[in-house]
Parts: sequence; structure tokens; C-alpha cells
Amino acid sequence: MFRTKTCGELRLSDAGQEVTLAGWVQRIRKMGGMTFLDLRDRYGVTQIVFEESDNHDLNEAANHLGREYVVQVKGKVAERASKNSNLPTGDIEIIASDLKVLNPSEVPPFTIEDNTDGGDELRMKYRYLDIRRNPVRRNLELRHRMTMEVRRYLDSKGFLEIETPMLVGSTPEGARDFVVPSRMNQGQFYALPQSPQTLKQLLMVGGIDRYFQIVKCFRDEDLRADRQPEFTQIDCEMSYIEQDDIINLFEGMAKHLFKEIRGVEFDKPFLRMSWADAMRLYGSDKPDMRFGMEFVELMDTMKGHGFPVFDSAEYIGGICAKGAAHYTRKQLDQLTDFVKRSQIGAKGLVYARVGEDGTVKSSVDKFYDQAALQELRKKMGAEPGDLILIMSGDDAMKTRKQLCELRLEMGRQLGLRDKDKFACLWVVDFPMFEWSDEEQRLMAMHHPFTHPKDEDIPLLDTDPAAVRADAYDMVINGVEVGGGSIRIHNSNLQAKMFEILGFTPEKAQEQFGFLMNAFKYGAPPHGGLAYGLDRWVSLFAGLDSIRDCIAFPKNNSGRDVMLDAPAPLDQKQLDELALAVVEKK
Ligand code: AMO
Repeated sequence: MFRTKTCGELRLSDAGQEVTLAGWVQRIRKMGGMTFLDLRDRYGVTQIVFEESDNHDLNEAANHLGREYVVQVKGKVAERASKNSNLPTGDIEIIASDLKVLNPSEVPPFTIEDNTDGGDELRMKYRYLDIRRNPVRRNLELRHRMTMEVRRYLDSKGFLEIETPMLVGSTPEGARDFVVPSRMNQGQFYALPQSPQTLKQLLMVGGIDRYFQIVKCFRDEDLRADRQPEFTQIDCEMSYIEQDDIINLFEGMAKHLFKEIRGVEFDKPFLRMSWADAMRLYGSDKPDMRFGMEFVELMDTMKGHGFPVFDSAEYIGGICAKGAAHYTRKQLDQLTDFVKRSQIGAKGLVYARVGEDGTVKSSVDKFYDQAALQELRKKMGAEPGDLILIMSGDDAMKTRKQLCELRLEMGRQLGLRDKDKFACLWVVDFPMFEWSDEEQRLMAMHHPFTHPKDEDIPLLDTDPAAVRADAYDMVINGVEVGGGSIRIHNSNLQAKMFEILGFTPEKAQEQFGFLMNAFKYGAPPHGGLAYGLDRWVSLFAGLDSIRDCIAFPKNNSGRDVMLDAPAPLDQKQLDELALAVVEKK
């Protein structure tokens, strides 16, 4: 046998056993007449001892090993004199009787330790070495356990896992597509799916009733910590259901994952909040509910005191940071700089501290007497020791988003965003459309297949911007981990939706004719949802970026630095595909 045990399983009760282990050289230490080797594999680390007095040649050979050599060791399990309680195998060691180098290794470009000296790009370039490190491997193990639990849960609920094609047609709505040229159909292109949205709807027309797929999706968008150009969805669709059925079933799945993977149980249903309330109270459609600090509108309280900034503002909103009145002038200046940063773009910040005696001192005392400041304090529900922060602006939506950034920053500074605490929320009743400045037209907020709320359907003709959708997102700790909707299953309503989105009937037919035609043949009412697997795993692992739970991720410019992709094509390949590369001016 190549190995009889792994490097993670031997315990004191195994003492006396003859074993064979194989793995990588983590570390070599020479001490007196002995050489100690830490041998590592996926399962752990075991200490191997080579005693010079027993076998000079063997000890010599061990001294010539380098980091990351692949070796096979035979020996006897023995109790350690000095035990290492940090290691599951720390009570034992192997007294080596044989050593075989299976493969030498060059010196690795960074240390394969939990705390490595390698920077991000270097570790991405040598990802296969990074994966040998415990933190990365653990994330991949967690990911595996999550997908197994997802399959178990959905199978128990009667879902069928069905694969849909990766080479599909380009869809103009949503993000940009990654496209693939066709050799057999020159001048024509496939697109990689941004999601299997229309295909899963066609499976419902096909009578599948409950579908799921753990599926790669591709979107050519700018990258962020929670976005990769290829990522994985837990994609689901169901027939003959209402919004509540879907929410309940997938809340059940979320709870199942929390329990099985994190050992966290929720005894109450998850909170549900309308999109309008989320925007009004938190300035975000994905509020972090681990802490309060809701927005309070202060137009009535703060206008009319001669402070020009507030007097001319369309929106004035405040948050109350509990117990933060101790913030120094310097800290408050830093907060002001924070909101003025270009990504946030606010003009400034007004603050008011509530002293221990209840008096309020603000940065705008010149305009507000104590009576007015007490009015503010009352409105904010602020108590002695609290800090009130106020922002204002001409555009309510924009100002709320700025205040949202400030709220999140204050939550971070005050330690309210604990990674081991989870706050789950359904955001419901999203608007059907949002205005796009770039396109100068209404765009679907979720996607064009989303069903409008029945009571809002008449508004499609009169005030489409006011139409709400049967769409919902699941948000955990301020991260959108999933979203879905009830779909349109009527070809006339679908055609109307495309019309509002600015498609001519011909264009709608060309792009989505397959779907509208399918709807003519008895499409059942249906709906679904997709969870972002990468975001879930990152949340459970407490990661800052989803990159760390993906075996081979892309960097921030969308490159795979290990494979050095994307890369130019050979002329021969270009010719076969009838493609020419044109330099962009
Ligand atoms: P949506 O576009 O909201 O919905 O995507 C669903 C979930 O996928 C995750 N996600 C991403 N994760 C990592 N990187 C990305 N670039 C990325 N983009 C999205 C998010 C998101 O909530 N077809 C619909 C679902 C439906 O209606 O059933 C869809 O794709 O967690």
C-alpha cells in the first residue's frame, strides 16, 4: 500500500503500530542527534523523527530534504516526550525506519503556512500551491459540504437537478455577455449564460415542476469583492406556486444550511421588508441588519433655522450612533473625509453629541439653539452619550445611499458587524423598472420575465415607473445572497413588458420569440430563485472576498494569472473562425 494512514489520523491509541505515510515536507528541524520532519497532507500534519544513532544514512537523507518535497515514510508510532496540544496528532510521532523521496521540489515562491508571506497575485499565479494551505483548502471543503447539503435538501423536496447548455444565445438585458465564436456558423456567436433564466422557465413549460442546478454563470461586469466574471448559482424554479411558497421553501433551505454547516438555528421566520422601506430606513436594497441605526428624516426639524445647507436640501437624514459621543474632533473630521471621498461623493456631515447631562452640542450650534437641538435629540431618540450624524442633499435617493455608507462605516467602527453573527432578511416588492441614464429608458430591475404585482398591472399603461414586481432578494449581513421572482407566463403580458422596455415587436420576437412561443402552449404559473453559492460560502467562512472560496479565481482585472488568460489567438485559429482583430483607436 502506498500509505496505510493519513497525516491527520494517528493518535496515542495507535502507539506501537507500524505505518506508512506520504505527503509534503512542511518543515525540517535538526536538533542534536535528531532530525524532525513535519509531514503534511490534506488531512493534517504528523511529526516524523529520524534518530542519528539508529540509522546514520537515514538521518542524512532526511537532512537533505527541502520544503515541499513529496516523500513516503515508514516507521513506528510512538508517544511524544513533549506533546503539542495545538495539533490533533500532537501526542504522537513516527520513529522513521525508511524514507523515500517520491518527488523533489523547487523552493516554493511563498511559504505554505497558514500565515504565508506570499502576496495576492503571487498566490494566484501559483494557486495550486496556495490550495495546499489550510485556509484555502478549508474553504473548498466548506464549499463541498454546502453543495452536498443543498443537493440533499432539494432532493428531499422533490427537485430534479437538470443541466442546461453553456453555449446559448446572447441576451441584451442585464450585464454584458461573454461571447464564443462559432466555426461552423461563421460570423455568428454563442454567448455563455448569465444565468439559466429562460431555460429553467422552459423546463417549467416542459412540466418539470421543480428544477435545480448548481450552475456556472458568466457576466462581463466590473469586478468587486463579491463579484467574479464566472460564479456559481444554486438555481431553482417551481411551478404552481405563489411568492410565499417560494420564500418559505428557500428560507427552509437557508435554515437547513445554517444548521448543518454553521450550527446556527433560527427560531423565528426571517424578517421581510419592502424595498421602499429598506431604501427609506437604510438607503440600501440590501441593508445589514446586524445593527439598527435606522435613518430618521429631519426635514421638518432642521429646516427653517437659517442654516443654508439644510434650508436648500431636498432630503435631510440622521442616524444615531449609540454611545459614540466620545468621538473626538479628529475622528469626526475623518468621518467627514470618509463621506467626501469620491466613491461616496457627499459634501459634508453635521454632527451633534449628547452630553451626559443631556445637553446637545453640535457642529452647527450657530444656527440651532438648545431648544432646537433638544427637538432634534427627541426626534432621533438619542440618549446621553449618543452621537447624531446628519447628511443632506438635493436628491433623496442619492443622499440616502451616502448615508447608507456612513451607517455601514459607523457599524464597522463600533464593532457591530460581527462576522459570527447572522441577520437574514427578505427584501420584497421591488420596483419593476428602474430608469437608466446611460440607456435613457426604463430597464427591468430584476429581469424582463418578472411578474408585476397584480394590483399594479393597470399602472403599466399609465405610470410604469410606479409598478412593483413579485420579486424578492435574500440578504444576509448586507450581502445579496439570492434573488428571484414570480414569472410572467402569459405571452401577451410578456410582449407588453418588452414593449415598455423599448423593444420593437420584431426585436422582441428575434431575441425572445422562443420564450413567447413556448408560453402559447400551456405555460404553468411559475417562479423561482437563485442563490449565489460563492457569496454563501464566503459568508459562512467569514471571507472578505468570494475569490477565496473559488479554486481558481480571476483577479480584479478579470485575468486568470495562473493560466495567463485571456490571451490572443493564433492567426490559424482566427482564420478558421473568420475573425480579425481590430486595434481600438
Ligand atoms: P441575480 O442576477 O440576482 O438573479 O443573481 C442571483 C444571485 O447570484 C449571485 N451573483 C453573483 N455572485 C458572484 N459574482 C457575480 N458576478 C454575481 N452576480 C450575481 C448573487 C445574486 O443574488 N436568474 C435570476 C434568478 C431568478 O430570478 O431566479 C438571477 O440570475 O448572490
